[in-house]
Amino acid sequence: MRPKTTTFSSTFEQEVFEGLTAHPKYLSSKYFYDEVGDKLFQDIMAMPEYYLTDCEFNILEANKAEIVDLFSGDGESFSLFELGAGDGKKTKILLRHLVERNIPFDYRPIDISQNALDQLEATLHREIPEVVINPLQGTYFDTLRDIGNSNGRRKVILFLGSNIGNLLHPQAVEFLKNMRDAINTDDLIFMGFDQKKNPQTILDAYNDKTGITEAFNKNILARINKEMGGNFDLDQFLHWEVYDPQTGTAKSYLVSKEKQMVWIESLDLEVPFKRWETIHTEISQKYDDEVVAWLAGEAGLQIATSFSDEEENYKDYVFTK
Ligand code: AVJ
Repeated sequence: MRPKTTTFSSTFEQEVFEGLTAHPKYLSSKYFYDEVGDKLFQDIMAMPEYYLTDCEFNILEANKAEIVDLFSGDGESFSLFELGAGDGKKTKILLRHLVERNIPFDYRPIDISQNALDQLEATLHREIPEVVINPLQGTYFDTLRDIGNSNGRRKVILFLGSNIGNLLHPQAVEFLKNMRDAINTDDLIFMGFDQKKNPQTILDAYNDKTGITEAFNKNILARINKEMGGNFDLDQFLHWEVYDPQTGTAKSYLVSKEKQMVWIESLDLEVPFKRWETIHTEISQKYDDEVVAWLAGEAGLQIATSFSDEEENYKDYVFTK
């Protein structure tokens, strides 16, 4: 064991140390996203099994006029924040429509990945040059503080893609409370929540045959190898997905196929794995109206309205305080 006094050079290092010395082992899904991980997630969004993206895309396309009306309020200029903006593919529907209708606003995408933000800024300049963009790099929790402090204009906060699903309910409530604190009475929060549905559909979305999700899940090990001098053999782990239809929680694991020892140079850490030992890497929570109403209530938010597809596979909710 390394001495307790050793300092870590990043939160990533600290969290990897904590997660891989815990029982059972875990790592946070927020570390999936580097340049490779961003690309793999784009590939996931393009997979037929990953219904979430198409579903939300269609909801936004079908309701863009009504949504943009809500956003623009009394017509005064507003700031459109987006947490976890990624490649902005879905957001561009709304951005284009706002521009077409000459509604004054600026776009403030926030993402943990600087790479994703750089690409988003470049494609926006090319595709919708009229949009005024002010990107901000950071985690959701860091940047909510900045949103709260940026006063003046009305705020609309977008949180698409069911990104909230990575949080356990208590963390989601905490997060929604922080959002509530960051907004005023005229402001809006527009959020995507993937819904409970046929469990097989959900399992297939997180366990594709082509192995893209597997590579995405294993990218956290690849990052530890690259950034911390780790020697994980990715072939010695398998991707395992479970979905509990009662709680609506999908969970991703990496399972060690063999008894093995992994060495992580910059942590000065040996990590022993028993055969079939797990690392829990991600949760992707699925919701229904009752659970969303409960979360909103706990956080002191009201549901103003919601938008859904015909099948109710996916819903976007509008919250106010
Ligand atoms: C980006 C968190 C919404 O949980 O559905 C996709 C990430 N993980 N496939 C999700 C993910 C595996 C995704 N979110």
